[in-house]
Amino acid sequence: MKHTRIKDLLNSTKTLQEVNAKGWVRTFRNNQFIALNDGSTIHNIQCVVDFENTPEETLKRITTGAAVSVTGNLVESQGAGQKYEIQVVKLEILGDSDAEKFPMQPKKHSLEFLRENAHLRVRTNAFGAIMRVRSVLSFAVHNYFQEKGFVYVNTPIITGSDAEGAGEMFKVTALPFDNTPRTEDGKIDYKKDFFGKETNLTVSGQLEGETFAMALGQIYTFGPTFRAENSNTSRHLAEFWMIEPEVAFNDLNDNMDLAEDFIQYVIKYTIDKCQDDLKFLESRLTEEEKQKPQAERSEMALLEKLNFVLENNFKRVSYTEAIDILRDCAPNKKKKFNYIINEWGADLQSEHERYLVEKHFKCPVILFDYPANIKAFYMRLNEDGKTVRAMDILFPGIGEIVGGSQREERFDVLVEKMKALGIDEEELWWYLDTRRFGSAVHSGFGLGFERLVLFVTGMTNIRDVIPFPRTPMNAEF
Ligand code: 4AD
Ligand code: MG
Repeated sequence: MKHTRIKDLLNSTKTLQEVNAKGWVRTFRNNQFIALNDGSTIHNIQCVVDFENTPEETLKRITTGAAVSVTGNLVESQGAGQKYEIQVVKLEILGDSDAEKFPMQPKKHSLEFLRENAHLRVRTNAFGAIMRVRSVLSFAVHNYFQEKGFVYVNTPIITGSDAEGAGEMFKVTALPFDNTPRTEDGKIDYKKDFFGKETNLTVSGQLEGETFAMALGQIYTFGPTFRAENSNTSRHLAEFWMIEPEVAFNDLNDNMDLAEDFIQYVIKYTIDKCQDDLKFLESRLTEEEKQKPQAERSEMALLEKLNFVLENNFKRVSYTEAIDILRDCAPNKKKKFNYIINEWGADLQSEHERYLVEKHFKCPVILFDYPANIKAFYMRLNEDGKTVRAMDILFPGIGEIVGGSQREERFDVLVEKMKALGIDEEELWWYLDTRRFGSAVHSGFGLGFERLVLFVTGMTNIRDVIPFPRTPMNAEF
């Protein structure tokens, strides 16, 4: 008999004869009531076992974590809390689960404990909800761009270039560690390596993406990116997913419009599709916040916060204006910041970004026109000669969620910039070709997918919104 998903059973509009459900036992109460979950929804279905006519041996095997198949009738529930339940006629244990040993006991576990059991944490309510929301969000990303006629491009994961010029790359090599081939001057001889050159895991698909935008007009990437930056924070992963649209003929203002519209669309889409999961995550967050002192609690509940982003324009502020605000703000004057803002040109730390978003503007902020020397080489130099057409989008509770720019389309200016920064022109010959042949104004941005999932789920640690997080000293699973 084919089983029916629990979500569909719970959404049934009438009672049903002879249904079958398969799932994992969450709890078994009074030797009679199974709370069964199959991952299709946050809600369990209650299955009422006829314990008087079920062998004691079988009843003992209905334990938290066991996989079971129940066949019976879908009837109106007598109990509170659910409309329907299954009156079990036949119960089969598909896979036992030793109650003493199964780590996901029906009680509150610490997030740290759950991370150590990332292969099983997805069997909890919270992680089931987070992973369903993540899935819907990623579909929303594709939907948005596909509806607008963007072409989805799969940029390479192994590359020879450092798109961000930050040098935070994982090397890819097939060379042996002992007897590594060396050149005459003792350096590693990458000519003898698999690709005949030095390669690394990509930090961004942007540069390859730009070449495609200069042919297909509007493109986006959505894939894994890797950064060997040793930042052990709740916002950084060594392997994360990035969405990078790139659009020919767009200037920085168009780029901001696109980013804002895109973020609002995917959040709206997810609110519409994930009501139950988001309501659950909202109550989870509210509970968690009760542990915090009043002053640190967020003013809005999760759904209110999401709707706020939909209903309000992002505040657009130049870097120069932001510096003025920060220089004069109380935490700066009282030396509460770890990094005190003294002058124009300072790089903004997340404490400054969060002050602007959470305390000053109290809404998402787009900062633009940053000093050239704190941003990547490919950004369009402004007429002032010292700022570039960069934009970062800052979100409450998250900090930077998007980084993007209008690109330097002028061949000479770009080459000069690369020279000044010591970026090898030979290595990026193909990138420079976009400026040699039919160059045009174009812009794009990168959105860190996990930071978006953090925002939408109300979780506070990035390790909890990706199935198997990779962070310094951790690559389990
Ligand atoms: O600001 P970033 O470094 O920009 C780029 O890589 C550009 N090439 C994007 C572009 O213009 N096409 O990274 C973009 C976003 C950040 O705003 C942040 O959301 C996310 O990627 N991000 C990370 N997310 C998780 N862990 C990390 N280590 C991240 N580093 C960046
Ligand atoms: Mg950035």
